[in-house]
Amino acid sequence: MAKSLTIPPLTEDLAQVLIDADTIDRRVNELAQQINHDYKDINEPLILVGVLKGSFIFLADLCRKLTIPHIVDFIAISSYGAAGDKQGNVRMLMDIRENMAGRHVLIVEDILDSGNTLAYLQRNFTTRDAKSVRIASFLDKPERHKVDLHLDYMGFTIPDVWVVGYGLDYKEKYRTLPYIAEMYPVH
Ligand code: IMP
Ligand code: MG
Repeated sequence: MAKSLTIPPLTEDLAQVLIDADTIDRRVNELAQQINHDYKDINEPLILVGVLKGSFIFLADLCRKLTIPHIVDFIAISSYGAAGDKQGNVRMLMDIRENMAGRHVLIVEDILDSGNTLAYLQRNFTTRDAKSVRIASFLDKPERHKVDLHLDYMGFTIPDVWVVGYGLDYKEKYRTLPYIAEMYPVH
C-alpha cells in the first residue's frame, strides 16, 4: 500500500500537522546519534527512564536507534500543574524498578511545558545518587516555562498550542497518531 494512504487524516479537532512523521524520524535519528556519541565511554548500561504515558513512542523509537548499552525503565507521575494548578505539585505514582545509585540516567519525556514534572524528577533522581542525570524531551514549549531547566537533548521547539500525536494526548485521544498535530483551542 502506498505510504501516504496509511497516514490517518486530521479530524475536526485538529487544526494542522505541525511535524510530519518523516521529519520526526530524521530528528530522532539525530538525537540518538548525539546520545550514542555522548555516552560512548560508559562502562555500564545507561538507564532510560520514560515518563508515562506521553513518552512511550518517542522512547520506543529512540532506544531502537541506540548503539550504546542501555536498559529501559518507566516512571509514572501525576502532574496537577497540567490541570491548571499554579503550585505545580507533582506526585510519583510509580517508581522505576532499577536502583539508580552510581548509574547514568537519561530521563525521556514527551514535552517540556511548565517544567514542573522534569524539575521534580531531576531533584528526586539527584538525591538518589545517580552518577549523572540528563534529560531528553521530544518537544519544548519555551513560552510556558515556569522553572529554569536545561534540556540536554531536545527534538523540536513549538509555540504555545496544545499538540497531540506521537505519544501526546488530549484526554487520551490522538496519542498514536504518527505525526504531531496542533489542536484547535479547547473551550
Ligand atoms: P509540565 O507542565 O512541564 O510539568 O508538563 C506536564 C505534562 O503535561 C507533560 O509531560 C505532558 O504530558 C503534558 N502536556 C503539556 N503540554 C502538552 C500538549 O501540548 N499536549 C499534550 N500533553 C501536554
Ligand atoms: Mg508527560
